[in-house]
Amino acid sequence: MSRGTVLVTGGAGYIGSHTVVELLKEGYDAVVVDNMGNAVQGDNGPESLHRVEKITGKKVTFYELDVRDAEKLEKVFKDHKITAVLHFAGLKSVNESVSQPLEYYNNNISGTLILLEIMMKYGVKQFVFSSSATVYGPPEQNPVDEPHRVGFGITNPYGRTKYFIEEILRDVVIADPEWRVTMLRYFNPVGAHESGLIGEDPDGPPNNLMPYVSQVAIGRRPHLVVFGNDWETPDGTGVRDWIHVVDLAVGHIAALNKLPSNSGIKVYNLGTGRGYSVLEAVKEFEKASGKEVKYVIGPRRPGDLANVVADPRLSEKELGWKATRGLPEMCADLWRWQDQNPYGFRKKEDAK
Ligand code: NAD
Ligand code: WQD
Repeated sequence: MSRGTVLVTGGAGYIGSHTVVELLKEGYDAVVVDNMGNAVQGDNGPESLHRVEKITGKKVTFYELDVRDAEKLEKVFKDHKITAVLHFAGLKSVNESVSQPLEYYNNNISGTLILLEIMMKYGVKQFVFSSSATVYGPPEQNPVDEPHRVGFGITNPYGRTKYFIEEILRDVVIADPEWRVTMLRYFNPVGAHESGLIGEDPDGPPNNLMPYVSQVAIGRRPHLVVFGNDWETPDGTGVRDWIHVVDLAVGHIAALNKLPSNSGIKVYNLGTGRGYSVLEAVKEFEKASGKEVKYVIGPRRPGDLANVVADPRLSEKELGWKATRGLPEMCADLWRWQDQNPYGFRKKEDAK
């Protein structure tokens, strides 16, 4: 018996596709909507979701649409009895958000508003939002816990969209206490499904560390540039709380299962509680892959932070969720994905 039909916006993307696998495994039905802005088209639908069907042996219902297209989105609510929404759809490049702020505010904020309005209209009031550790700005202390101030010192429009949406969600719940909203603040998601069938597939040179590292290892990029080795950290390179994407996906199921018994708004960190520096992560990846990862030290990247590590105790206490996969497993799974799919979901000639 189905445990309910969950609408997954942006479900053809990196984190969404891994979450759909876990949803199906847990007996939920998934309806995915995605505008394919950052997903790769396969034969008749997103390639990521074909692979999800292969992994799970189950069917995923998919609609290609933009969540800002109210008419098309409303039809999904008419045609399916949606019980809850996992909202991943959005733009996520920090750099791009600095040069295209209006596009980021429009996509992320307007997209969320339109989705929430349609949910209200159809009486669907269970919502899980993909937020980010970026809302904390520079941490006043590490590890960072959920009551830490938010919104102060965020260095880019992308991060501000996450902060603004969090504030909007708080107001929605104040106005109508029937809403059940959980905001999940992800730390640094990496890795891939253990099957090697789905993973992260950046369009062009990766902005984030680990996909860049794996593309160096496979020979697509000559070397990594380490953005500064003069930070206030033990080896001078940035320290992050890397979290396996499957642990993250499982965290969404924990949040979803808990929604009906929640009241009001909840916010949880999804991280491991342990930080590794850029150089430690590179070393761990070399071990897992057996490949050398060449790097050079470059200048700091504007807007970067020295050290960001989660305090994940609240998620463990209230959601019963804890990350179980360490950095070696993240690297091994990332390498399997990269090795089996050197150009991700794309053909060699389409990869940049
Ligand atoms: P992704 O780009 O792989 O997935 C997002 C998906 O949403 C893409 O498939 C894209 O085509 C789709 N999309 C974008 N705008 C849309 C719209 N208006 N309508 C319909 N579909 C739309 O990114 P991801 O890494 O899987 O991230 C998922 C969510 O998690 C995003 O909201 C992101 O901001 C958030 N997040 C990601 C990270 C990270 O490091 N990956 C960290 C914190 C938070
Ligand atoms: C990690 C470390 C870099 C690339 C970003 C967003 C954040 C969230 C996750 C969505 C830093 C260093 C990186 C490279 C490097 N996304 N680095 N060379 O910046 O912690 O977080 O993604 O919400 O909002 O800001 O992740 O992987 O880009 O960087 O040296 O080529 O790796 O300087 O210390 P970040 P990242």
